Amino acid sequence: MTVLAIESSCDDTCAAVLTGENRVLSSVVSSQVALHEIYGGVVPELASRRHCENIRWVVEEALSEAELSLEDIDAVCVTRGPGLVGSLLVGVAYAKSLAYARKIPLIGVNHVEGHLLSPMLTNTELDFPFIGLVVSGGHTSLYLAKAWHDYELLGRTIDDAAGEAFDKVARMLELGFPGGPVIEKRAQSGNPEAVKLPRAWLGKESLDFSFSGLKTAVRTALERGLNRETGDQERAAFISDLAASFQEAVTAVLLRKTLLAAERFQVKNVAFAGGVSCNGYLRRRMSDEARAQGLNFFLAPPAFCTDNGAMIAQVGLRRLAAGLSDDLSLNPSSRLPL
Ligand code: KG4
Ligand code: ZN
Repeated sequence: MTVLAIESSCDDTCAAVLTGENRVLSSVVSSQVALHEIYGGVVPELASRRHCENIRWVVEEALSEAELSLEDIDAVCVTRGPGLVGSLLVGVAYAKSLAYARKIPLIGVNHVEGHLLSPMLTNTELDFPFIGLVVSGGHTSLYLAKAWHDYELLGRTIDDAAGEAFDKVARMLELGFPGGPVIEKRAQSGNPEAVKLPRAWLGKESLDFSFSGLKTAVRTALERGLNRETGDQERAAFISDLAASFQEAVTAVLLRKTLLAAERFQVKNVAFAGGVSCNGYLRRRMSDEARAQGLNFFLAPPAFCTDNGAMIAQVGLRRLAAGLSDDLSLNPSSRLPL
C-alpha cells in the first residue's frame, strides 16, 4: 500500500508519500517562518492563505520526489485536527478533492497521534507499550501508548505548551522566531545554573505541566538583571545565561515527569516527540538520564520532530490497514482530542 499524506495544521505546508510498512519515499515541508517572523508568532489568516498558495506544488513535489503519480496512490491521509481551523481546512479540502477525483479512501488523522508515533518512523525496535512525551508549540502531553489506537493521557500542560514558552521567552529576550532554535543556539554560550528559575512540579505525584510561571520568572529576572548602565557585552552574557537557565528549567521538568511515568507504569520504552524534541540539549539530557535508568529511549530525526507529512502518513497507513477511512463529510476539528 502507498499513501499520500497532507499536513497543514499550523504554519507549515507538508506532504509525504509512504509505502509498505514504513518506507518514507518523500517528505516535503514548505515553511512559513519568513512570513510570520515579523509578527513574532503565527498569524492564522496569513497561514491559511499561504497554505492555499502552496498546497498544490507541495503535493506535486512529494509525488515527484517519490517518482510516483496520483495513479499510484492507494489512499489520501490528512491531518483533521487539532490545529488552526483555517489552516486545517485547506489540507482537508485538498485531500477530499484528490480522494474524490481518484475514487480512493480518504483518511483523517489526529495530529498529536502523528507526533506521538513519529519515533516509530525510524526506530523499528520501538514497540508498545511505551511512555510518549509530545512537546510542541501547541501541546505538552504525556501518554501511555498501550497499543496502536489505545492511548492513555497521563498528564498535560495546564497553561502554556513548552514550545509556546520557548517562543514567548525568545520574544522577551528579543532573539527572534521561532523561539526554540534561537534559544537553543543562544543557550550554548550561557550557564544553565546562572539564573535561579522555578520548576512547577504541581505536587509530588502529578504528571501535569505548567510553564506560565516560568515565563513570568524569566520576565522578572530580565527586568532585575538589566538596567540602563548594563554594557552591551554584559547584556549579551546575561541573555545567554537566562536562555540556558530557561532551557534547563524546561528540561528538568520534562525529564523528571517522564521518568516518573515510566516508573509508575513499569514501562521500559520511552519516546520523545514534537517540535521541541529537535532541541539538542533536551535530546542529550533526556536520553542520557533515561538510559542511566535502564530505559530504552527513542527519538525521531529532527525533520520528523517538527510538523511533517510522514508522521501523518504513518498513522494513515495503519488506519487503512485496519479498514478505517472517512467519507467526504470529514470536517477539521481545531480541538480534536486523542
Ligand atoms: O511540532 P511543531 O512543529 O508544531 C506544533 O505542532 O506546534 O512544534 C513547533 C514548536 C515551536 O514552538 C518551536 O519553538 C519548537 O517547536 N521548537 C523547538 C526547537 N525547534 C522547534 N523548541 C526547542 N528547541 C528547538 N530546537
Ligand atoms: Zn505539530
